[in-house]
Amino acid sequence: MLKFPDGFLWGAATASYQIEGAWKEDGKGESIWDHFSHQPYRIQNGDTGDTACDHYHRSSEDIALMKSLGLQTYRFSIAWPRILPVGTGPINPKGLAFYDQLVDHLLEAGIIPCATLYHWDLPQTLQERGGWANRESADWFADYARVMFDQLGDRVKFWSTLNEPFVSSFIGYGEGRHAPGIADTSMAYQTAHHLLLAHGKAVQAFRDGGYPGRIGIVLNLSHYTPAGPSEADQLAYQRVYEQNAGLFLSSLFKGSYPEYLFNWIGSTQQPKIQSGDLETISAPVDFMGINYYMSFKVAYNPLGDLMRAHVEQISSPGWGQTDMDWEVHPEGLTAILRHVSDNYTKIPLYITENGSAFPDVPDENGFVKDPARLNYLRAHLTAAHRAIEAGVNLKGYFVWSFLDNFEWALGYAPRFGIIRVDYKTLKRTPKQSAYWYQQTIQNNGFDE
Ligand code: FCB
Repeated sequence: MLKFPDGFLWGAATASYQIEGAWKEDGKGESIWDHFSHQPYRIQNGDTGDTACDHYHRSSEDIALMKSLGLQTYRFSIAWPRILPVGTGPINPKGLAFYDQLVDHLLEAGIIPCATLYHWDLPQTLQERGGWANRESADWFADYARVMFDQLGDRVKFWSTLNEPFVSSFIGYGEGRHAPGIADTSMAYQTAHHLLLAHGKAVQAFRDGGYPGRIGIVLNLSHYTPAGPSEADQLAYQRVYEQNAGLFLSSLFKGSYPEYLFNWIGSTQQPKIQSGDLETISAPVDFMGINYYMSFKVAYNPLGDLMRAHVEQISSPGWGQTDMDWEVHPEGLTAILRHVSDNYTKIPLYITENGSAFPDVPDENGFVKDPARLNYLRAHLTAAHRAIEAGVNLKGYFVWSFLDNFEWALGYAPRFGIIRVDYKTLKRTPKQSAYWYQQTIQNNGFDE
């Protein structure tokens, strides 16, 4: 049996917009994802998060399910416009009450709440003031963070500021595939900078307020490698790595942005930075969350976009593609964990997301046998274990996702849950992988 260290934390993750529904109930304001998903053709099949998994009305049932599976911790996010309907100013007491109750019920069930302050659902009113492109966004976020620390800080001891700032900035503002749907690379860098600043200011607010508990940030980190030994491939790799990972890791842990990348993109793309920003951004955090899904090799491509690179996924033999057309490469997880630990930080690391969407076929009772997902989880946990053996300070793992849910631009088509959601009846049914995970938690390990 592959055993994990004592105290290794086992959990599952979700995000507010992907599961809650109740998009305009109890005083909630509109978010950029409400706004975006209500526009034609932005989301596959015209799906929206209006109802999603209706978790807003079913959180007790969901927590009971978590408990029955033995989850030790649950990573959820807070919908900013539920708390501050127009982003700043007046607080919506009913929004606060929802998370208050959620946290109380989790604690009653013996489950550690792990709260993410921002998983992409910015209040639409703030978007109309420029969103993350407006430098003031950093202060808006810190003020909102303070409201949450004041409200939940006595019970939530495990906080993440942002989920995947790369995706918010580069996919939301650079490519426009995600809300707010803007395609402008220079805005990608500027918004990334403001997101990082927002993170730093929230950490500062947390320290200044003397709240108990720990605070960190969640990054999406893929494993990157050069396609070949040529200098052209090596440098193409460096550009892509620095844009996707170095931009965040280096500013957070070294207090500087990657020099080669910044020279490459030039002054028209570089963000405007004020003195003191990088000190704020690099304020020490207590842990880091890593979301891992895939690995890439990078070759020089003279016809490539700004990065002049051809980026291709790496696949391990025998896996095929997931429902996202993603390749599967568990070895990349060991590599990225070692990379972070060797180059940036020894603080505790958590895998805050890892999982897969496969074409699930339910039987007549709604039960899904999902050996592919189960094998995926086992292979990635084995890879995580290798990193621990190599000395990486990895302290826990969260499956993405607890429930099937709204997968952003792809709507409800890809199913990531270890629990099936029937979107007609909203009935939840744990899949085979959920029972395997339950056993794994019980044994603090699994048979290889
Ligand atoms: C991550 C997101 C998460 C989910 C997974 C599949 O990038 O953080 O919300 O969509 O991908």
